[in-house]
Amino acid sequence: MTAPSQANQPRKLHVVTHGCQMNVYDSARMADLLRPLGYETVDAPEGADMVILNTCHIRERAEEKVFSLLGRLRQMKEAQNGQMMIAVTGCVAQAEGEVLAKRAPYVDLIVGPQAYHRLPELIASAHRKTGAVIDTDFPAEQKFDFLPDAAAPQGVMSFLSIQEGCDKFCSFCVVPYTRGAESSRPVASVVAEARRMVALGAREISLLGQNVNAYHGEGVDGTDWGLVKLIDELSKIEPLARIRYTTSHPNDMDVELIKAHGDNPKLMPFLHLPVQSGSDKILRAMNRKHDAAKFYKIVEELKAIRPDMAFSSDFIIGHPGESEEDFRATMRLVNEVGFALAYSFKYSPRPGTPAAALPQLAEDVKDARLYELQAVLRQQQTSFNESKEGQTMPVLFSGPGRRPGQQAGRSPYMQPVVVEYDGDLTGEICAVEITQGNPNFLFGRLLRKEKLAA
Ligand code: 5AD
Ligand code: SF4
Repeated sequence: MTAPSQANQPRKLHVVTHGCQMNVYDSARMADLLRPLGYETVDAPEGADMVILNTCHIRERAEEKVFSLLGRLRQMKEAQNGQMMIAVTGCVAQAEGEVLAKRAPYVDLIVGPQAYHRLPELIASAHRKTGAVIDTDFPAEQKFDFLPDAAAPQGVMSFLSIQEGCDKFCSFCVVPYTRGAESSRPVASVVAEARRMVALGAREISLLGQNVNAYHGEGVDGTDWGLVKLIDELSKIEPLARIRYTTSHPNDMDVELIKAHGDNPKLMPFLHLPVQSGSDKILRAMNRKHDAAKFYKIVEELKAIRPDMAFSSDFIIGHPGESEEDFRATMRLVNEVGFALAYSFKYSPRPGTPAAALPQLAEDVKDARLYELQAVLRQQQTSFNESKEGQTMPVLFSGPGRRPGQQAGRSPYMQPVVVEYDGDLTGEICAVEITQGNPNFLFGRLLRKEKLAA
């Protein structure tokens, strides 16, 4: 890869993000890191000096997406006489670095999630050599210590990564291999970043981590702080109105955290808590280390403390060993709990994970079960949205809706809400009467423009 001819001109950076919110957060931080080097982000890859493909490895389909997009980038790079640096970052880079370098030799940089802070030096070395520069070490230093002070505003609803990695080793999951061991950022660093986000207009912050409720960072007093203490500290930031955290593991939903949902009005009454299966046998096979009863108990306790609490979850259908009876147990759990939102996936064998080595279910069995589950989940989501008709909800507005004269925001349950309003409500929390619940969003009537307590 040769250096761009007009080194002092602004360089165009295009970032493509696949996968989870953690990747969205990481992509924004990479753009922040490259801005001081003269890289301005652009919306399309054509003509870009650099393209970062921030990838996801969680399921096979996510990985296939990477290779098909790389094929298109290769053509663009050729059309630009090679003047396009292509970087693959994220979990595919981590897990498949060497394979990638062989299969896509036009890729200049392969960088794992723990090495993003080294991007500027890696880019410099990629300019000096031909062939891919690969950095997929798990370095001892914390990448979070290298965050630049100047960050582009994320908006009214911002995401803040507080914990990374996972030590739980669920049978199906690549995360412990791609993101490494669990590690938590110190409280002071999280609070400083939250303050910066709020100064740039954030009124809601979603705390991110692969196992966010296992957070245990160094507190401002030097002792170990859990998620509740961190949330309490963040709650002191006055203009910050809403706090969420995702993704949680049932085993880390301790009494204190459940209680916090009753005590802290800034914590939203909505929790994403993946259960994966309703069958104890499959939960054991998945190495989840809890049973279905535990999940029911958490839901009950949270509802007792906050009766308006609603839940979302993740489900995997067709994990090795899943019988018809096991699937029925999942359907029972779904029907008994009732979810406001849910993500469901067909089990996808991931190389190197224990479940991938087991005998697999037939595709058509998985397809039929997933179809049945998703029909019920869709129905539950629609019913939940419809149940809000006639209710007044505080809506945090983030900007214009799709049509002129509309403003859009989010309910406490993350439901998109649209109202007719000619002015700009960005950053305001307003009382909205819900007039129509649709499968994917709500229509409402703006009642009061003044700010409400969240
Ligand atoms: N196959 C299908 N779904 C998976 N997930 C994680 N690994 C796999 C896999 N191998 C799902 C889980 C997790 C979500 C982020 O992705 O439900 O909670
Ligand atoms: Fe993967 Fe979550 Fe299990 Fe960790 S707890 S191994 S991230 S599914």
